[in-house]
Amino acid sequence: MNSNKIRESFLSFFESKGHNIIPSSSLIPHDNSLLFTAAGMVPLKDYFLGNKKTDTPNMVSSQKCIRTIDIDIIGETDRHLSFFEMLGNFSVGEYFKEDAIKYSYEYITEVLKVEKDKLWFTVYKDDDEAYNIWKNVIGVPEKRIQRGNEDNFWHMNIPGPCGPCSEIFIDRGSKYGKDGGPIGGGEDRFIEIWNLVFMESIQDQPFQVIDELPKKNIDTGMGLERIAMIMQDKDNLFDTDLFKPLRDALLSQITVNDNKYEKIIIDHIKSSTFMISDGVVPTNEGRGYVLRRIIRRALTHAYKINNEEDFSFSDIFDSLESSLLDVYPEVKSKKTFILEELKSEEDQFRVTLKQGMSLLEQEIKESKNNTLSGEVIFKLYDTFGFPVDLTRDLAEENDLNLDLAAYEKLMAEQRANAKKENKFEAVLPSAINLSEETEFVGYECSSSESIIKLILKNGEELEAVSGGECMIVLDTTPFYGESGGQVGDQGKLTAKDLEIDVLDTQKIGNFHLHICKVNRGSVKLNSKVKAEIDTVRRQAI
Ligand code: SER
Repeated sequence: MNSNKIRESFLSFFESKGHNIIPSSSLIPHDNSLLFTAAGMVPLKDYFLGNKKTDTPNMVSSQKCIRTIDIDIIGETDRHLSFFEMLGNFSVGEYFKEDAIKYSYEYITEVLKVEKDKLWFTVYKDDDEAYNIWKNVIGVPEKRIQRGNEDNFWHMNIPGPCGPCSEIFIDRGSKYGKDGGPIGGGEDRFIEIWNLVFMESIQDQPFQVIDELPKKNIDTGMGLERIAMIMQDKDNLFDTDLFKPLRDALLSQITVNDNKYEKIIIDHIKSSTFMISDGVVPTNEGRGYVLRRIIRRALTHAYKINNEEDFSFSDIFDSLESSLLDVYPEVKSKKTFILEELKSEEDQFRVTLKQGMSLLEQEIKESKNNTLSGEVIFKLYDTFGFPVDLTRDLAEENDLNLDLAAYEKLMAEQRANAKKENKFEAVLPSAINLSEETEFVGYECSSSESIIKLILKNGEELEAVSGGECMIVLDTTPFYGESGGQVGDQGKLTAKDLEIDVLDTQKIGNFHLHICKVNRGSVKLNSKVKAEIDTVRRQAI
C-alpha cells in the first residue's frame, strides 16, 4: 500500500466513525513554549486544557511534525527521522479508552490487514482498564500485552496535558532481533507503530501531575513513515515511497556510498524544506538555529561523499517536491523561496567549511587527553559557523571528547560583551514623544501582535529602515524593559519578509524601547509585526 493510500485510508476510516478531518497545522506552533509542532495534538492543546471549545470534538489529521530530540541517532538507525507525518485521531471529551482501542484495532487489522498475531501491546503499569480492554474486549492473548513505566505515560516535556498511554507494536520476526516483546525484546524487531494516549491529567513538569483535565480525552499518533515501512515490507524508512525518489536522486549525485550519511542527508533535506516552507529561515537562535544546524550537518556529510564538493540541495530538490506535491502544495508554491534560502545558507557555509575543517583536523591530531578544547569549539562556532553538535559529531567520529564547560564559559563572556556593545547608551533618547504609552503584556504572554509606533536611527525619527541597527517603540510589547534592575528581554520582531533581532529592551519613561538589528526586509512605521521574546533566556534570567 503506498503512503498516499495509507494517509487517505486513515482519514476516511475515522471520518466514517464521525471524526472531522482537520488539515495539518504549520510546523511553527502558536504555543510559544514549543519550538516546533512535534505531535498531532499540539494544535489541539487548548481544547484538551479546556481553554477553547470546539463544535467537532472528534477530529482526525495527518500532521507535519519536527522532532529534533533524536537528531544524534538519525542515520544510525533505520527508523528515526527529524521530520515525519503523524496520523492521529482525537477526542475532546467524547470517547475514551474502549472506543480508542477498538478503533485502532479495527483500522490495523481490517483496513491495513496486518496479521493479528504479529501485534503486541503495552499499557501503563497500573492501567488495568486498558489491559482488560485489550484482553477481554479485543481478545488479545495475555502474553502479548505488557506493562510499562515511563514509556507508557505520555507528556509534552513542558507543562501541559498528559496521561497514560497504550502502544501498539508489530513483531517483524527473528531476523530483526531477539524475542521478548516490546519490553525486553529487540527494538528493531518490535516496531512501535501507534501510541494511544488517554489524556486525562495536567502536569507542571515531567511526571509531576498537578491536576485533572476538565474532560477525559483521546490523543493518538501513528508515524506515517513507520507504518509505510511495514506495509511496504521494507527494512528501513528510507526505502519506502516517501523517500525513494529523494534517495535515488541523491545516489545519482554522490561519488561514495555511505548508508549512514545518505540517511542523514535525506532526512535533513526533507525537514529543512518543510521548515522553510512554513517560514523558518536560518539564523543564530531558536528555530532558525535548529534549521541552520540541520542544513549545515547535511552539507558536511554531503561534501564527504561527494569528492567534487559541488553538491547542492537544488540538484535533488525536484525529487522531493514531486513526491509531496499533492499533499503539501506549499512546498511547490514556495519552491523559489525555499531554494534561495538553502542556497544562501550553502554559500555562506561553503566559504568557511574548508578552513574550519582543516583547523579541526589539525586539532584532532594535536589534541591533548583526547579532548577538543573549549577554545577550539568556540572558534569553530564563532569564526567558522560550525554548530556545536556538528563539531561534536566530527569529534566523536575521531573518538574525542569535548570540553563543553570551557566552551559555555566563552559563549557566556561573548554574550555579555555583545550586550554591552549593543546597549547604545550614548544615543538612548532621554524622552519619547508619543501620546500613547507602551502597553506591557509580558507577564501574561511571550508574544504579541504589535504596531510600530516609532523608529529611531542615530537619534533621528524615520518612516522606514532597511537593514542595520535601529530602535523601535511598539504600541504593545511582551519585552520587559530594563530600567535599572532586571535586564531587558531579547527576541524577535517578524512579519512577512521582515526579520528583526531585538538585542535589548530599555524602559524610557512610559515606553519600551527595543534595540534592534534588521536582518531581513524593511521595517515601516505603523506596520504590524509579531513581537516574540526569547522565552528560554527570560526563564534563565
Ligand atoms: N501525543 C502522542 C505522541 O506524540 C500521541 O499522538 O506520541
